[in-house]
Amino acid sequence: MKKLLIFALVAGFLAGCYYDNEETLYPSLDKGCDTTGVTFSKSIQPILQTNCYGCHSIKDYASMGGNLNLEDYTTLKRAVDDGHFYLAIIHDPAHIPMPKDGAKLDTCSITKIKIWIDHGALNN
Ligand code: HEC
Repeated sequence: MKKLLIFALVAGFLAGCYYDNEETLYPSLDKGCDTTGVTFSKSIQPILQTNCYGCHSIKDYASMGGNLNLEDYTTLKRAVDDGHFYLAIIHDPAHIPMPKDGAKLDTCSITKIKIWIDHGALNN
């Protein structure tokens, strides 16, 4: 019984450490956020579709999206590479917060975007 208790404590402690590390990198991993196999088409495009294409689609970007066509991968990649894309969605004070006039994206979506960017923001 005592052994079992010690095992439980040690296991809990180790799990705690592991959790802490991942937690620092990607803050929402513990909250039921599925971040396995993040790809552009499966994970990122749906987020953009729901939250950004309302203004930044091929159809609307000129009139509503500050002339930024996020449906075009090359344009999107450029915004990612110059840092504006990520800084806009984390509401960095020096940038115009996006979605414009909307609520900040949920942490899970931001985490997936961060993972996608960290892996090269591929068109996959
Ligand atoms: C309601 C319309 C609207 C929505 C929704 C919207 N945007 Fe924008 N976005 C704009 C406009 C308009 C601009 C041009 C700047 C301005 O006039 O505020 C802009 C500018 C930007 C810029 C350039 C900012 C800079 O600092 O250079 C980025 C990046 C961007 N949007 C990303 C996004 C992303 C990502 C989403 C979805 C998460 C999003 N936007 C949702 C309207 C919108």
